[in-house]
Amino acid sequence: KYEKIWLAFGIGCLFVFLTVIGVSAFAEGNQPPSCLTTIDPEKVDQTPPFDKPGLVKTGNNEYQLNIVVSAFAFTPNQIEIPKGAKVTINVTSKDVIHGFEVAGTNVNMMVEPGYINTLTKTFDKTGEYTILCNEYCGAGHHVMTGRIKVV
Ligand code: CUA
Repeated sequence: KYEKIWLAFGIGCLFVFLTVIGVSAFAEGNQPPSCLTTIDPEKVDQTPPFDKPGLVKTGNNEYQLNIVVSAFAFTPNQIEIPKGAKVTINVTSKDVIHGFEVAGTNVNMMVEPGYINTLTKTFDKTGEYTILCNEYCGAGHHVMTGRIKVV
């Protein structure tokens, strides 16, 4: 008898958790970064889209932002984004694991050599945002910064 109650309680809890995850994923745009594809870290500079890193317009108010990360820099590291732009950010590393965090937003990815990590973010507030490497990557880790200006 009691088992049934506990079972129902357990299933109820599971349902609540799934709902919470679902709502946060879809309503708040809190998606985890997904791994799109692999890339040869030695040939990043010759592999599109990273042969021409930077912001590319892909549609009406839609952009792609391709960033090459290496010890100890983001390329490019000064980016201007129009307000309201929906930006798909692609990052990859030429050497070791780095981080790509846009301070004050939910943009936070690992940057791994051999992989392209990607996420989409709509920048609907003007302002300046600092890009940080949040994964210890060596002697120059603390100087790895960049800036996104939403105008
Ligand atoms: Cu790159 Cu820390």
